Order: sequence, then C-alpha cells, then structure tokens
Amino acid sequence: ATAQIGVTGLAVMGRNLARNLARHGFTVAVHNRSPGRTRGLLAEHGDEGTFVPSESMADFVATLERPRAVIVMVKAGAPTDAVIDELVPLLEAGDIVVDCGNAHFTDTIRREEALRGHGLHFVGTGVSGGEEGALHGPSIMPGGSDESYRKLGPIFEKIAAQVDGVPCCRHIGPDGAGHFVKMVHNGIEYADMQLIAEAYDLLRAGLSAGPAELAKIFRRWNDGELESFLIEITADVLAHTDAATGRPFVDVVLDQAEQKGTGRWTVQSALDLGVPITGIAEATFARSLSGHADQRAAARRAFPDAGGNWQVDDRETFVEDVRRALLASKIVAYAQGFDHIRAGSREYDWGVDLGGTATIWRGGCIIRARFLDRIRQAYDTEPELPTLLVAPWFAEQVSAGVPAWRRVVADAARAGVPTPAFSSSLAYFDALRAQRLPAALIQGLRDNFGAHTYRRVDRDGSFHTRWAADRAEEAA
Ligand code: 6PG
Repeated sequence: ATAQIGVTGLAVMGRNLARNLARHGFTVAVHNRSPGRTRGLLAEHGDEGTFVPSESMADFVATLERPRAVIVMVKAGAPTDAVIDELVPLLEAGDIVVDCGNAHFTDTIRREEALRGHGLHFVGTGVSGGEEGALHGPSIMPGGSDESYRKLGPIFEKIAAQVDGVPCCRHIGPDGAGHFVKMVHNGIEYADMQLIAEAYDLLRAGLSAGPAELAKIFRRWNDGELESFLIEITADVLAHTDAATGRPFVDVVLDQAEQKGTGRWTVQSALDLGVPITGIAEATFARSLSGHADQRAAARRAFPDAGGNWQVDDRETFVEDVRRALLASKIVAYAQGFDHIRAGSREYDWGVDLGGTATIWRGGCIIRARFLDRIRQAYDTEPELPTLLVAPWFAEQVSAGVPAWRRVVADAARAGVPTPAFSSSLAYFDALRAQRLPAALIQGLRDNFGAHTYRRVDRDGSFHTRWAADRAEEAA
C-alpha cells in the first residue's frame, strides 16, 4: 500500500481534485466505475504526479495506506450510497470515507452515523470553486470527526486556495456541518447572482445601454468594495459576443435559470429553523418563476402596457445608486446566510465558527470576495454579533446606501423592472429596524378568530380577549 489518499469517481470534479492532490506531491489512488476514465486520466495527466490506478474497488482500497482515506466524488443521492455500500466491506476500523459531492446535510448525518457503527469515519465535505477551483485550489468545508481531520487537514489545507498565507479549508464541525455550510454557501451564491442580475437589468433599462457598455461598469465596480469573482465573471459574460449571430451572448441565451437543488434545500432548511433568509428565498423563487414559460407568455399577452416609462436624468448618479443598492442588498443576503449557519449550528450542536467560515470563503469558492475578509473581522471581533448588519463597517455601508437603495427600488417599481431581491432586502432592513411591527395586529387577529392568545408590552404572561362575548381580557 503506497497511496496516501484515493479518489473514486473521476468525472471532471473528481479528476481535477485527484490532479490537484498529485500536483501537491501526494500519491493518489484513482478509480472509476468504468475504467476508461481512469486510463484517460493517466494518459493525459499521468506526468503531473504519482497516480496509482485500479480497475476494481478492491484493488483500489488495497493500494491505500492505513488509515485509508477515500474521496468519493460521484452524483449526490443514490449513486453516493451505492459507492459507500461497495466500499464499506472493504475497509477497516479507523478508515475514512470523504464525500465531496453536494450531498444534503441530513443524508450526511445519516451516513456518518451508519459508518460510525462500522468503526469508520464519514466526512461530508463541501467543495466549492467548480472545475477550476478543484484543480487550482478550492474552498474546502469538511465535517466529520476531529480524528478524521487530523489525517485529512494537512492534505486538504495544502490543496485548498490560500489567502494571505491562510488555507481556505478548516474543520467545520461534526457529521453534517460541512455539507450544511456548503449548502448555505450555495444559497448565498443564488442571492448574490440574483442581485447582480437585477443590477444589470436596472442598468440596462435605466441607461438604455447594451451589454458591452454595462460590462465596463461591472469591471469598474470590481475595483471597489464589490470586488468579487461573481462581479468579475459578470463583466466577462456581458462583454462576450455570440459567434454564430454576432449578437451579445446574453441576448441569445434563453432567460430561464435552472438549479440543481442546493438553493431550494437552503430555503427549506431555513423554513424549518425559522430563519428569514428572504434574499436567498427570493433568488430561488426568481429562478423558478423564470422557468414558467407558459405563464410568462400568458401574462405578457394580458398586460402588454403595464410597464412605466423610465428616463434616467443623471446617468452617473443612477449608476452609483445601483452600486450602493447592490452593496446594501448583498450585505443583507450575507447577514441572513450567516444567521442561518448560526441557527443550524445551534440546532445540531456543531459549534461552527462564523469568522472561520468567512475566512475559508475568502478564496477558492464561487462567492469569494474582498467583502468576506470584513465578515471574518466582524465575527472574529464579536462572535455573538446579533446580525452582520450592525457590525461597524457594514452598518456604515448600509446607512450611507439607504437613500440610494430607496431611490433604486422606487424607480424600479415605477418603471416595472422586477427587483425581487433588491426590494425584499430593503424590506427586510426596514422591518428589522422598525420601532413597531404590524405583527401586533396579526396577534390580535389570531386571538380574535382562534383564541391563539397574545403577550402584552406592559405585563408578563399570555392573554386572551373574549372577542365574541364581553371583550374582557383574561390571563391565558
Ligand atoms: C460551487 C458551486 C457548485 C455548483 C452549484 C450550481 O460552490 O462550486 O456552488 O457547487 O456550481 O451546484 O448550482 P445550481 O445548478 O443549483 O445553480
């Protein structure tokens, strides 16, 4: 046995992870259900490091040093269970199975418990950064036991992206913690992308400008506080011309956004935990709405003239307003995402470090951004921060952005440009800072029709008013 770590499942992500490991000097056992992929990897990239190929799972396991560490990189769901079932009888106590796919964290909790029963470690690991990240340095979010991290940490920290000499990998917490944090990462990714898309839509309508001109605006924004991978590739996509038609690429792409499910999982989990991640939810629903082509066609026919006219007078101020509104809305989305992680960590007793999570998202992952270093600072300074919105730098940005944010959302509403994420982020901010919420009326209604009781501002306890009788109040 000579290999320090193994990878089974050599589609593009598995293959690039294996190459990244080999390039960092690790001896990597490689295996794929159909051996063609294994041979292809060796033929094309065999000279990048030391690979130990196997055609059967048994041979693959036999090439691994003990305790064995096997990375499983197959489709989430049934294929992952099938590979685990094949692996388990071949492994021995203390060995480690690492699932680097986008698994649902509850599946990871279940699998971890089952493998623990066999004396094995199961490490659900979030890996972000796409194909390029897997090869050149992803952000890695491992869950599982402390003991498994002692073996995996030194390997993963080496192949992860590095920011200021700090690896974008840390042990997130036990069992499903890593996959949970990766799920929320993806939810934030949805919100971030929806906000960028709305900013683009607003700019395009307000300025009557083409994608190539807008690309320049995003490129400029990427030099400031919005600096991030997603803003950078937005400029790239907007500047791209379709070869077949010569039209802007973005105008020949069907406007129906798809999803593999991690955004939906994030929203479902937030509903269960009672965390209002409104930005992520709006972003997820906006994708669903875009896919309802028949309804959209019917509505277009029914309301052809519902949009208002829009004339932006001061173009420069408008662009700066949209930038400020985007930054403020983005702060809301991240505040909500980190609230969600905190709630999940409390519910499942994971002890997730929020500052540490922001630290490993500074590089490698899809949402990597300058901004994340500020989030790290905020949670490192005050781990019990009630909401990211009130951390000094973020509070300053939001306060400074409020007038622009209101102008943009109001203009969008008047012009009929849909801005679900911008608008709901502003509504979230206003609700959070309101002196009184109309929730009091809701409590009154609930008590009126269903005797659901209410609490009072001036006395402890629960109360009910006898609405249908003498309207006297009684302690409930
Ligand atoms: C990442 C990405 C990655 C993948 C998403 C896309 O962090 O590298 O999030 O996991 O691109 O699964 O998700 P949708 O298909 O749902 O947009």
